[in-house]
Amino acid sequence: MIPIKTIDRLHPTAEAFGKVILLGEHSVVYGHPAIAAGLPQGLRLTAEPLPDSAAPIELEIPAWGIDLALRPGEVHPVAMSALAVLSACKGPRSGWRVRGESSLPARAGLGSSAALTVALARLVLGPDAPVDAVIEASMVGERIFHGQPSGLDSAVAARGGVLRFVRGEPTQEIALTAPIPLLIFPSGVARSTAVEVGKVRARRERLPSIIDPVLGALGAAVESGIDAILRNDLECLGEIMNVSHELLSALDVSAPALDHIVERARAHGAPGAKLTGAGGGGCAIALPPADPAPLLAASRAAGIHPLQVEVWR
Ligand code: PMV
Repeated sequence: MIPIKTIDRLHPTAEAFGKVILLGEHSVVYGHPAIAAGLPQGLRLTAEPLPDSAAPIELEIPAWGIDLALRPGEVHPVAMSALAVLSACKGPRSGWRVRGESSLPARAGLGSSAALTVALARLVLGPDAPVDAVIEASMVGERIFHGQPSGLDSAVAARGGVLRFVRGEPTQEIALTAPIPLLIFPSGVARSTAVEVGKVRARRERLPSIIDPVLGALGAAVESGIDAILRNDLECLGEIMNVSHELLSALDVSAPALDHIVERARAHGAPGAKLTGAGGGGCAIALPPADPAPLLAASRAAGIHPLQVEVWR
């Protein structure tokens, strides 16, 4: 529960995970499960009081091009969302400078908005705040960014680890027996979660008898994917990722830039590759080939700079 009493100071630092969706994006909006993993490169905020306690809060995250004064009535979505989270936590609305560091790109489907809203909630509620209270406050800000988000991003940003998420149900941690190595390829193409979610909704309204089974298949891919992860069978997980990419294409949320990345990864021996997140742009992911060097070199030659990560509990 978010506190009833107002809190007039911020904690000096707060952190949140980035996130990558392994399987189940879009179908998760319709009640099917998804698997997502926390990325430790997420966001670290530091806060210090301003000399004037009535001055607007300054929010600066150079890596994401954010430099804002959080004035009441501000229409910038980041400012609106940040103020809404501070307000939901009954935290200060003036008199602080907040600065953020991240090694993830923003607005690329790697959970930057959820990382921001989770870390802001923790600046008010503190590092030991119950995770459900942090998620609840984050969702207030996420709704300003994304309309009706499933809550997956907030859950992963707050918890980290590798999670099975179903909308409205308790999140389950997947007990990995080994880390999963992943390559993340930012396409550099801008995208909007709300636009892509809207495209799926419209296609489902036009073609429910076709699209509902596609969403069901994406959900089934998650359950089979969890079995593969628990067996540490990355070949099988890769095949499920490949099928999921084609199913997501049937929802019209892929893009030429993502298809090129996925094809390049498969051509260089990746066991599996798919778009991740809302699609339309943003990022694709791949399980690395036995020797990833040629794929990394080919990607860089095409102007794509992959991130190499391991997801783990
Ligand atoms: O904002 P993104 O790119 O991480 O996508 C969110 C995942 C969706 O399933 C497409 C939407 C949702 O609310 O879960």
